[in-house]
Order: sequence, then structure tokens, then C-alpha cells
Amino acid sequence: MTQPMSPVDTAKFAAAKRAAAFVENGMKVGLGTGSTAAWLVKCLAERKDREGLRFTGVPTSSSTASLATELGIPITTLDDAGWLDLTIDGADEYDSELNLIKGGGGALLQEKIVATASDRMIVIADATKKVETLGAFPLPVEVIGFGMNTTKRLLEEMLEGLDVMGNTGTFRRKGDELFITDEGNHIIDLKLGRIGNARQLSLILNQIPGVVENGLFIDICDVIITGHGDGKVEMRDINSGENETSRVGTAGDDNVFLNIAE
Ligand code: 5RP
Repeated sequence: MTQPMSPVDTAKFAAAKRAAAFVENGMKVGLGTGSTAAWLVKCLAERKDREGLRFTGVPTSSSTASLATELGIPITTLDDAGWLDLTIDGADEYDSELNLIKGGGGALLQEKIVATASDRMIVIADATKKVETLGAFPLPVEVIGFGMNTTKRLLEEMLEGLDVMGNTGTFRRKGDELFITDEGNHIIDLKLGRIGNARQLSLILNQIPGVVENGLFIDICDVIITGHGDGKVEMRDINSGENETSRVGTAGDDNVFLNIAE
């Protein structure tokens, strides 16, 4: 028997389902990484199977590539696709200007490259991701392995002069090992508490030689779709100013909810 979904999974699913409706025949679509993005991939696979939706996905991680392939979604690389119509991805935090912290799943580098190479980025999130000021979620910074302890020290020293509440970094681990990204790099999670000026911080971080990229997404997200535990979905388009509230059916309604939750 199918287990009922938790409120947080319902929220993620609801946001993903609404976002999946933006994909049209022939589109090239960036597929994000993480648990919310995994719901999106399942919703898109469901549209492909039910409606014959034709699109090509550009995954932002090896895990998303595996899931898409498993579900029969045609995928290609960013370089083969060239430019994308749309990218849909999750986030760890978003503020009222739709600036984001991303990288909780360790895929920030490919995610930022793919989103930047898209006409439009839609972020899907449950309501817990909305913050007044970015920074409670540790900011992931991808660094190369060479001299990484020195890079960490430089990062911490640089943070002392900036409008943030904390300045300690921790190398991300996976079990007993250092976490390794799809690009063979490592991640330093910066405990900042509060980021006073995210735009400035993003620019400064990327000037440190060992830093490959940071998890601040500034002026990249166009639309936020927020899901709630009861299936309510709120959508905000920062360019048009348009707001929409809708509802995605939950278990028991006539939809695909239970099928794709298995
Ligand atoms: C991966 C990401 C994810 O989008 C972010 O961590 C959100 O994940 P989830 O949807 O599982 O909460 O940036 O690098």
C-alpha cells in the first residue's frame, strides 16, 4: 500500500508539479539537483508518458542524470544543447528579491552554469526555504583540492571585514571522506549566520584564486514556486510582477500524486 506523503514532501511535489507545467514540446530544459528537483524529474517523466511531451533535459549533476535516464527522459549535455529555454531547480534559501543560496546537494557549479545559460530560471521550494535575509543556511563554496586549507584560511580572513555574522568554514564530508563534487572539487560550507550584502559577497568570494564558484545565485532566478504541506502553491514572477496561488490535488484526488510517489 502507498504510504501517505509527509507535509514537506507534499509541498515539494506540489511546487514541482506546478513548475512541470511550464515545459512545452521541443524545449531544452535544465534539470536541477536535490529532493525537490527529483520530484520535478518524476513529474516531467509522467507528462512524457501520459501526454507524449517531447523535451530534452540537461541535468545539473550525475544523480539527476541517472534519475532522468532511469525514467526515460532524453538528456544531453549543456554544450550539445547550446542554450536552454528553461531551468527548474530547488534552493536552500531564497529572499524577497529571489536571490538564492544553493549547493546543499553539492551541485552548485553545474547548477549555476546551467541556470545562467537559460532564458528563464524557475526555483521550486517548500515554504521553509523563504528567508528575510540569506545566510542561516551555511553557504557552500566549491574549491579546488590544491591548497584548499590555504583557500579556507583566506576565505575566513576575508570574511572578517564583511557584513556577515560568522566567518568559519568547514570542509564538507561524506562519511569519513571529504565530499567530492561532480567536477572533482571540494566544498567549504561557510557559517555566516546572516549575509548583509549577498551581491558584494558573491563577487569577493570568486576573486579568491582557489575558489571555483559559490552558492549565491544573484539575479538568476526569475520565478519562485513555493509549495505548502496542504498542496497550496504560490508563484511569483519577479520580472512581470505576476502572482498566482493555486492548489495541486493531494492523495485521494484524481491525479498522479500517488502513482509518482511510489
Ligand atoms: C543542490 C541544491 C538543491 O537544489 C538544494 O540543496 C535544495 O535541495 P532540496 O530540494 O533537497 O531541499 O542546490 O546542490
